[in-house]
Amino acid sequence: MAKLKVAVLFGGRSNEHDISCISAAHVIRSIPKDKYDVITIGISKKGHWFKYIGDTELIPTGEWEKHPDNVPCIFSPDPIHSGFIAFERSGETVTIKVDCVFPVLHGRNGEDGTVQGLFELAGVPFVGCDLISSAMCMDKDTTHTVLEANGIKTAKWVRILRSELDEKLSEKCDEMEKKLRYPMFVKPCNCGSSVGITKAKNRAELEAGIKLAFVHDKKVIVEEGIVGREIECAVMGGEKPFVSDVGEIRTVGEFYDYTAKYDDVGSEVIIPAEITEAEREAVRDVVLRSFKAMGCEGLSRCDCFLTETGEVILNEINTMPGHTSISMYPKLMEHAGIPYSEQEDRLIKLALERAGVDYE
Ligand SMILES: Nc1ncnc2c1ncn2[C@@H]1O[C@H](COP(=O)(O)OP(=O)(O)O)[C@@H](O)[C@H]1O
Ligand SMILES: [Mg+2]
Repeated sequence: MAKLKVAVLFGGRSNEHDISCISAAHVIRSIPKDKYDVITIGISKKGHWFKYIGDTELIPTGEWEKHPDNVPCIFSPDPIHSGFIAFERSGETVTIKVDCVFPVLHGRNGEDGTVQGLFELAGVPFVGCDLISSAMCMDKDTTHTVLEANGIKTAKWVRILRSELDEKLSEKCDEMEKKLRYPMFVKPCNCGSSVGITKAKNRAELEAGIKLAFVHDKKVIVEEGIVGREIECAVMGGEKPFVSDVGEIRTVGEFYDYTAKYDDVGSEVIIPAEITEAEREAVRDVVLRSFKAMGCEGLSRCDCFLTETGEVILNEINTMPGHTSISMYPKLMEHAGIPYSEQEDRLIKLALERAGVDYE
């Protein structure tokens, strides 16, 4: 059986570009090379696509971008001519057909349905959630709306649009104060990695937080703060998804902000979370129902709060969760007895199965 060709996409025009590069290096190392030929496509912070043939170790450091062998490379949405088209230095254009794309992209322009739509147009199998599910999970307002409609509890929230900022800010803040208790969390709807998120303890902080969040997005949500433990589950699969054991994030600061996530400041990942069996099952049940309600496929990491009274509140679903060797998703799967190489293999196979490709 010939090896299948998989394209790993990394970087991207997103504030999570650097994390994507770290995740992608982990994914590239973990993909079993006896089964797959891997090609790597890097997307710069400005959104330029390059065929990258250098060392994997230069991806997380950002040095990949300066590699002399990089050539521009685009992806054709036409199903007849689908594939990556590389513009070689010789002046030739070379089409690279692939069996599957693994978009290891986080945040905007990658985890939000944009590239998923491109691969759907081309009819090329790709790892992870489809366009609509990726888009719905990326938008925090839509996530709340869809989950609530499906009977899944989320934090109480109020949405504000940029068009309401100038004339209606005071009115909207009155509405928030009526519906929600302090502290509140102010969030740009489509960001990730806690960028633009602030915790507001009073009206002045609320107004300042909203203005800051609008630097990052045209839509902002304000949520009531939840007092609870931050717990997460990894999900993998198609129609009958597998839900992992529960992991817990313990953070030292006010909340799990960008610094707590990526700078070594003492945040801890605990697997499995020290919770009761009943709580574990309640979390896994909510996670499975949320994954299905949001139309997720392939993989996702579902993040929840577990309150002192045992209530499970869904916070968000990450459709391309962090994939570094210390990230929650691969660790939870490893805890379930699935080693890294098998995780990537399974994810690729799920993509092929969804597309009806016979790969054996
Ligand atoms: N309603 C809330 N109550 C308490 N803490 C929250 C709430 N919303 C967010 N947080 C804190 O902020 C962090 C980032 O928020 P989240 O919605 O997960 O954004 P991101 O998509 O950037 O990860 C969470 O991990 C948590 O620590
Ligand atoms: Mg989060």
